[in-house]
Amino acid sequence: MQHAAPLIDPFARPITYLRVSVTDRCDFRCVYCMAEHMQFLPKAELLTLEELDRLCSAFVGLGVQKLRITGGEPLVRRNIMGFFHAMSRHLGAGLEELTLTTNGSQLGRFAGELADCGVRRVNVSLDTLDPDKFAAITRWGRLPQVLDGIRAAAAAGLRVKINVVALRGVNDGELFDLVRWCGDQGHDLTFIEVMPMGDLGNEDRLDQYWPLSDLRARLAERFTLMDLAERTGGPARYVRLRETGQKIGFITPLTHNFCESCNRVRLTCTGELFMCLGQEDNADLRAPLRASGDDAVLIDAIRAAIANKPKGHDFDYSRQTVTGQMTRHMSHTGG
Ligand code: GTP
Ligand code: 5AD
Ligand code: SF4
Repeated sequence: MQHAAPLIDPFARPITYLRVSVTDRCDFRCVYCMAEHMQFLPKAELLTLEELDRLCSAFVGLGVQKLRITGGEPLVRRNIMGFFHAMSRHLGAGLEELTLTTNGSQLGRFAGELADCGVRRVNVSLDTLDPDKFAAITRWGRLPQVLDGIRAAAAAGLRVKINVVALRGVNDGELFDLVRWCGDQGHDLTFIEVMPMGDLGNEDRLDQYWPLSDLRARLAERFTLMDLAERTGGPARYVRLRETGQKIGFITPLTHNFCESCNRVRLTCTGELFMCLGQEDNADLRAPLRASGDDAVLIDAIRAAIANKPKGHDFDYSRQTVTGQMTRHMSHTGG
């Protein structure tokens, strides 16, 4: 329950959305997200699930209404269902949405229990429906397992949103197949512009960059796109396809900056709070968390961090060069 003044950043943006990366580990190695041989954090560095609970609860007390659990792959963290159960106590008591972003590999095991915890929808990363391409993009992933997971989620009554990173030369030929498949399955679909994070060579990132303005124009050759005013609290802007009725989202950090309406911060599994995905600024919340059992210390640290939230990212691919890139991997903050 909110018991204090809300979190407002220096640009008058209310912070109501917390993304929590509960592990830096993953059972896949997507090329745009991780290196093939990642050095993972020693387990001793991680916050315990009880500590993450205290932190998230403090944020809910400060007005956070939306909690998205991410990773790495959140469902590979041991006893993560205990954490979802614990967080579900905030639903209806300040928290409006408890959800997750997942690669789908473990949904076959956990979809039913997630629904029991009050999760209503899941975002699943799936860039292609071609098994060979899927294996190439995720390096370690296998498509049938993810499709089974998505089916399990739908069967458990969860709404599914498919996240597709738009990659020129990789999945541009599948645009209409992806749209058709999501339409047939009843899943929402969101396209994302690839961001310059991690250590892939800049030239590769530029080669693969597929601006969503182009993707949208291609969609419009076959469908009538109706702009929707509705929002999910995330950065996507949505259209409805008149012909099929399905909803398509666009996340456009490069072609249409949305930082002005940013409402999010990101907590990592070691207690770093990143104020912007595209900046290095972060605050250590682990020390204040462990310094005292009194939340006042923690809350002061959270407020001080929010007071330093930057205006936005500096990602830019114009002039055929990459600027504003982050060497930090996407898996560190969960996107
Ligand atoms: P919804 O609740 O469905 O709106 O989800 P969401 O878009 O907030 O979350 P999701 O985990 O599906 O994120 C999709 C993509 O959006 C990821 O690639 C994120 O990295 C990207 N994204 C989310 N927030 C930001 C942001 O503040 N800045 C940038 N540049 N990208 C973001
Ligand atoms: N650029 C854009 N999106 C990315 N994701 C991971 N790495 C990148 C990147 N470099 C996406 C994943 C997932 C979401 C959390 O972030 O595909 O859907
Ligand atoms: Fe794992 Fe997601 Fe990163 Fe892929 S994008 S390596 S599924 S954390």
